[in-house]
Amino acid sequence: MGEDIKGILLAGGRGTRLHPLTSIVSKQLQPIYNKPMVYYSLTTMILAGVRQILLITTPEDVPHFKKLLGDGHRWGLEIEYATQDQPRGIAEALVIGADFLGDSGALLMLGDNFIYGRLDFLRQGIAANAPRGATIFAYQVSNPSAYGVVEFDRDFNVLSLEEKPASPRSPWAVPGLYVYGAGVATKAATLKPSARGELEITDLNRLYLNEGTLSARPMGRGIAWLDTGTPENLLNASSFVHAIETRQGLIVGSPEEAAFRMGFLSLEALRALIDDMPDTFYKQSLVRSLRDQA
Ligand code: DAU
Repeated sequence: MGEDIKGILLAGGRGTRLHPLTSIVSKQLQPIYNKPMVYYSLTTMILAGVRQILLITTPEDVPHFKKLLGDGHRWGLEIEYATQDQPRGIAEALVIGADFLGDSGALLMLGDNFIYGRLDFLRQGIAANAPRGATIFAYQVSNPSAYGVVEFDRDFNVLSLEEKPASPRSPWAVPGLYVYGAGVATKAATLKPSARGELEITDLNRLYLNEGTLSARPMGRGIAWLDTGTPENLLNASSFVHAIETRQGLIVGSPEEAAFRMGFLSLEALRALIDDMPDTFYKQSLVRSLRDQA
């Protein structure tokens, strides 16, 4: 199904835990070191092969995201926008995106998730997803109670899925990155709000589990999946990006570079974008990576 997958990038919510940073700027536009947070999730989606993306955010924040990303054409993407006026749950993104998705499958990513490393797990997850099934990923963490938690048998078949369980049955957290086959919007529309009033992504995934069409793929230890939800986590993610970029001289989380690598953007188009940039590390590292490629 890899070919007709569209992306939904969810970047709404109130950002309460980052108050007062988020009183005027959305959480997903906060800096992680030298770029807005949404650059990292967008780059992950591009590297997964997704070119058509619906960005969902609050009505107040749409103009800011549009100013930053536009219609995506300069990066060889097609970015559309939709709004979620209240945080009624992550699964609501798929209902909001029903018309955008049409008969396509979906890669849903949360704009506050940061993933760094080889993305083979993601490309394979997309390629192997059953036509009307779902694929989630799993990452070992020290604090699973803060996340959706998946329990496996020895062969990595899913036994259970729980949202922020007080007594987690495994150390495997479910990152905010989900692959769905066609028909997901119809399924999401059947969900009922949870006790906290949200359409829960874990409830949607449990529907697939009960139908026997849910796969879960472990992400290896070589991948970094970082939290960005609190000021301390933001600082840690910034330090991580700073450490890697300084060591390698290469950029982490550049949509331009990702689009070029995926063939969405020609060498000439990338050169023109770079020529227009002010002289920062961002520009210099793009020039370096071009030199390596060209
Ligand atoms: O980060 C992965 C985790 O994301 C998963 O392990 C959990 O299963 C999943 O429920 C979710 O947990 P969080 O506690 O991180 O969810 P939160 O409510 O913080 O929402 C995550 C992001 O999605 C946040 O940046 C805001 C955005 N969001 C959230 C909701 C509920 C929206 O844009 N709209 C919403 O309605």
